[in-house]
Amino acid sequence: MKNIIITGGAGFIGSHVVRRMVANHPDLHIINVDALTYAGNLENLKDVEGKSNYEFVKLDITDGASVEALFSSRKIHGVIHLAAESHVDRSITNPLDFVMTNVVGTVILLNAYKAYGDTENGRFYHVSTDEVYGTLGDEGKFTETTPYDPNSPYSASKASSDHFVRAYHETYKLPIVISNCSNNYGSHQFPEKLIPLMIHNITHNKPLPVYGKGENIRDWLWVEDHARAIELIYFKGVNGETYNIGGNNEWKNIDLVHKLCEIMDRKLGREPGESAQLITYVTDRKGHDFRYAIDASKLENELGWTPSVAFDQGFEKTIDWYLENTEWLGRVTSGAYADYYSAMYANR
Ligand code: NAD
Ligand code: TYD
Repeated sequence: MKNIIITGGAGFIGSHVVRRMVANHPDLHIINVDALTYAGNLENLKDVEGKSNYEFVKLDITDGASVEALFSSRKIHGVIHLAAESHVDRSITNPLDFVMTNVVGTVILLNAYKAYGDTENGRFYHVSTDEVYGTLGDEGKFTETTPYDPNSPYSASKASSDHFVRAYHETYKLPIVISNCSNNYGSHQFPEKLIPLMIHNITHNKPLPVYGKGENIRDWLWVEDHARAIELIYFKGVNGETYNIGGNNEWKNIDLVHKLCEIMDRKLGREPGESAQLITYVTDRKGHDFRYAIDASKLENELGWTPSVAFDQGFEKTIDWYLENTEWLGRVTSGAYADYYSAMYANR
């Protein structure tokens, strides 16, 4: 059986990728490598636990000796690398954590794959973000040839890791692919990100902190569509290439929050307009990118991918998931989350 390592498989997107790969590829042995930071949660993977083609290894990718021990102990066919520090606001507070995991951790994995992996037949896939391209004005979209221009410590660290992955292809002929995706929404997302944070606050009648004037624009993609693109690119992508992934679904933050409030009023049996009264404009994020939008035509034309779920449908499903999983939400917002929340929002 071929061994495929998926890093960050206990996180939001990673857990969707792991579930999909375990279910669709019984001929592959999926090894989920994750340090279980605040963002990693084995509860996200209950339905694959015990499956014969699935294994979990708790490991920090910045621990070079442990990574080397894992890669040298068995033949690794390929790697789908998602482990990362992923939240822009945290990167503004603690940039070095992002350098360590996103840059150093990625290079440690590249070295291990180069030394011990099946570089003849397998590949190293780096899952990245559209934020590496910087920010857009009112017009235009990011393509694969848009110059890198990252603005936050998070996007700078992801840009740096993309560059290392590409450099290992040029220098050592490592078989690699990279994808750069827009904002994901869906189940199991840690409530530091906009949508689950707002759902959690609406449920608890807490203020909804909208940064600046709420006019920044993001392109939202259903997480399962991202996971499907990752599976497709892993098997069918061309070595050395980059693929942009996006939802063709741009929303101003404030419009998205209003839409969420309307749906939540209906679902919670509140008066129309009740949840929107919680909206509170707060100090803007430092260096806040204005707009992201993705041109995904390369992936659509070359590999035949398109988003499968309309936003209205995916958004409603997402909200239902959080409302049906209040215990999950309760557990991940207990403990350290309260400290995070007050440090980030108390005096904003
Ligand atoms: P997440 O924060 O939900 O999960 C990250 C996972 O990585 C967690 O399980 C965490 O435990 C693990 N991890 C963190 N540091 C680690 C370390 N040092 N060693 C091992 N494991 C570690 O992130 P996400 O939103 O699921 O994003 C996954 C990947 O996709 C990231 O690389 C991110 O840059 C990229 N991405 C995310 C989005 C998005 O909208 N969330 C969009 C495009 C790309
Ligand atoms: P986020 O989910 O953090 O994703 P990213 O910064 O990677 O795009 O934020 C999405 C947008 O929502 C972004 O423009 C910042 C904004 N935002 C708020 O207005 N309030 C919040 O509390 C959060 C977390 C984000």
